Amino acid sequence: MRKINRITARHSSRELLILYIAFVFLARGVRGQLPGSWELLIANVGIASMHTAVTYDGTVILLDRTDVGASKINLANGFCRDDPQDQTLTHDCTAHSVLYDPATNTIRPLTILTDTWCSSGAFVANGTMVQTGGDLDGIRKIRYFVPCPAGGSCDWVEATDQSLQADRWYSTNQLLPDGRMIVVGGRNEFTVEFVPAAPGEGKIWLQFLKDTNDMEMDNLYPYVHLLPDGNLFIFANRDSILYNYRSNAVLRTYPTIPGGPRNYPSAGSSVLLPLTAENGFSTAEVMICGGAQYGAFLNPPAQMPASNTCGRMTVTDPSPVWNMETMPSPRNMGDMILLPSRDVLIINGAQAGSQGFGLAWFPCLNPVLYQPKAGQGLRFMVLSPTTIPRMYHSTANLLPDGRILLAGSNTHYYYTFDGDFPTELRLEAFSPEYLSPNLASLRPTIIGTPVFLFYNLAFTVTITTPIPVTGIVELNLISAPFTTHSYGQGQRLLQLSVQSAMPLGDNTYSITGSAPPNSNVAPAGYYMMFAVNQGIPSIAVWVQIRS
Ligand SMILES: *[C@@H]1O[C@H](CO)[C@@H](O)[C@H](O)[C@H]1NC(C)=O
Repeated sequence: MRKINRITARHSSRELLILYIAFVFLARGVRGQLPGSWELLIANVGIASMHTAVTYDGTVILLDRTDVGASKINLANGFCRDDPQDQTLTHDCTAHSVLYDPATNTIRPLTILTDTWCSSGAFVANGTMVQTGGDLDGIRKIRYFVPCPAGGSCDWVEATDQSLQADRWYSTNQLLPDGRMIVVGGRNEFTVEFVPAAPGEGKIWLQFLKDTNDMEMDNLYPYVHLLPDGNLFIFANRDSILYNYRSNAVLRTYPTIPGGPRNYPSAGSSVLLPLTAENGFSTAEVMICGGAQYGAFLNPPAQMPASNTCGRMTVTDPSPVWNMETMPSPRNMGDMILLPSRDVLIINGAQAGSQGFGLAWFPCLNPVLYQPKAGQGLRFMVLSPTTIPRMYHSTANLLPDGRILLAGSNTHYYYTFDGDFPTELRLEAFSPEYLSPNLASLRPTIIGTPVFLFYNLAFTVTITTPIPVTGIVELNLISAPFTTHSYGQGQRLLQLSVQSAMPLGDNTYSITGSAPPNSNVAPAGYYMMFAVNQGIPSIAVWVQIRS
């Protein structure tokens, strides 16, 4: 904080404003618009997506909950779901999950049978989505979605021969280096478990989850980041630990973050900032932005302003501290997206209240770009606004073409299309400035790439660019998270070690990269590989890291 004050003290706020306006005009020619652009993709996808994930086929799973009553899209082939236990609709012929294909901009209904309300998930090594828990009949369910190319008929499969060891509502999943998945916490569930469980392995008590519980239950959807040493960073409420899941040992306790609670229902969001070969993938930095004040959930009429702070901590440091920064405006329920340019996009959310039904006000329509490498005080940039509020139960996901897909927002218990903040069925995309036509001459196109990467082994990518390449072209891998409640479970970005682009003639280049060193840095699985030239990304190709 002190550092920020010193920097701002040197420049008057008027000077900063002039600098900022000059920058925006430079970035956008003389049109004076804020960077970035918006497009409406589909006016009605039939459901309000609460959980969203991009598959390695490039299709996108949109998922709501089953006990919400009729959605606005029917199940395929006249299929209906009969559930005598459903409290809203026992004979339901509508879909509560759909598959979106960005290539054709079309959707098709998927069949989900048990309740996925506030559930969790992760893609495993073979690209299958393993999706767990929820509420009611779904609270111990394990579900699978094996992706298929667009036009295929892949659908949810709900396991009948296995189930979770505990009720998991508001848990977080993380793929582990050994290929299993850990499921952390849940409402009144202070344990972790593994999927698949080893023979005889039950749920495992984690006192930290109990210690971070409070009257608002601010320990839900904990932020879980797999660190390059193979341990897990787990953050709940305002506290965090380094957790060795193999021995069930808490190795470190980190300082408490300043400000209010940061997890559900006081949702901020969190990312593991890009891991990079520049330091041998040895340093890991966690960032947490926004949240609500304690009490906003318990006392909604107060419409308490959301947090306007972000904390950054190098969790691999021997004596780490939270470095606090101030966002341009307060925000809860903001999604944080790792962009291929290695910047962070903060998008969606509200400026007052908390998560929950009808508990938030003053939507955040402007996304904010955060540039981790810029000087302190110069890192945030306000971007072009949308017209569509996306607050509770909305999502944001990076697409392989570099756009951000925005879905959902339902601040009501049921689908409600009148009053303030109606249930949102529109699908929208935000294009960061790096997709601007003004920058097209820098955009690389990947024309040759391996399908598989093997730990530590070199590989070669061929790219072409409209004008000659002048600097280093980065190769950055980004996993596809399971996004829900403004947090991308399993999101990680790896900046690989690369050699200078070798010219092959005709603005075509060969780039030799080195695959990540091990499964702690990058668990085996599918990643989007972007070639990035001076911050301008190619369209990604999917590569599979294999051990
Ligand atoms: C992919 O992995 C999942 C989870 O481990 C497993 O259930 C499934 O059978 C695997 N699919 C294939 C095609 O190997």
